Amino acid sequence: MNGEFIPADQGVISIRTHGFSYGTGCFEGIRGYWNEEDQQLYLFRLREHYIRFLNSCKILQISLPYTVEQYVEISIELIKRNGFREDIYMRPMAYKSDQIVGVRLHNLEDHIVITSEPFGNYIDLGGLHCGVSSWRRIEDNSIPARAKITGSYVNSAFAKSEAMQNGFDEAIMLTHDGHVSEGSAENIFLLMNGEFVTPSSTENILLGITRDTIIELARREFGRITRERQIDRTELYIVDEIFLCGTGAQIAPVIKVDHRPVGDGSIGPISKALQQLYFDVVRGHIPDYRAQWCTPVYSATPQVAQPTGTGSEALD
Ligand SMILES: Cc1ncc(COP(=O)(O)O)c(C=O)c1O
Repeated sequence: MNGEFIPADQGVISIRTHGFSYGTGCFEGIRGYWNEEDQQLYLFRLREHYIRFLNSCKILQISLPYTVEQYVEISIELIKRNGFREDIYMRPMAYKSDQIVGVRLHNLEDHIVITSEPFGNYIDLGGLHCGVSSWRRIEDNSIPARAKITGSYVNSAFAKSEAMQNGFDEAIMLTHDGHVSEGSAENIFLLMNGEFVTPSSTENILLGITRDTIIELARREFGRITRERQIDRTELYIVDEIFLCGTGAQIAPVIKVDHRPVGDGSIGPISKALQQLYFDVVRGHIPDYRAQWCTPVYSATPQVAQPTGTGSEALD
């Protein structure tokens, strides 16, 4: 917190903090996956999360003293000090820290805190029933969704609670002009006639890092180009497969929307294959993607060479 490693219970802020009163903060959600075989914890797409974090800060007029590379180092050190040997979630958060009354972004002090904790699944991965929300997604000219702003999660909370209190598992939000935007904390993909389709960056979405990962995996592993375009609400009712994705959600297939089965109402083959591939990728099981996207926390563990019978086996 502000340049020091401290026990989490000492990480406190005043009740008069600007960010707490007005939602003037931004954050990231980053996952780390424990790989038992490698005895290693891999942080997934760490650099990309911090690039987006600094972009959110820029939009909110928050200036922080560190570079992306420094955040990567600080994050590794934080997880090391916690000594986690399980899946984790890490949350960097920057916020306006002045203890004043007055709504604005400028001439305020900025603080930063990074927390981490053990973490399992965020939502059910075995097939969701989603409801189209009566709450519309916030507009770029109201609270920009491309920045991960703390205050904008009130919009997500309205949608999520409405969905759950109406018996659904998750909400799908539309834009003000009635096109599909995203879930309460997830991007959305549709599969139609073998094509991957997802709302484009101008549909008031958070430009998800998982979304980007899927676009790349679809191209490299399935040979499919993703169409980023406007999507009508009723396309949700007739496509072959739907899944939600995000750091928290991972890949969560949707099997029903507004009481209508997606496809035949069970998890589709592409969603299933992609979900399996995704878990292999994030856990560092696939060397190419591990080198590209997974940052190891702990220094390389010595690999015990197979005994050769010479009596001089070495560790390398
Ligand atoms: C509103 C919203 N959309 C999309 C996402 C997915 O983004 P990412 O894949 O970068 O976690 C999230 C989750 O972080 C989110 O909160």
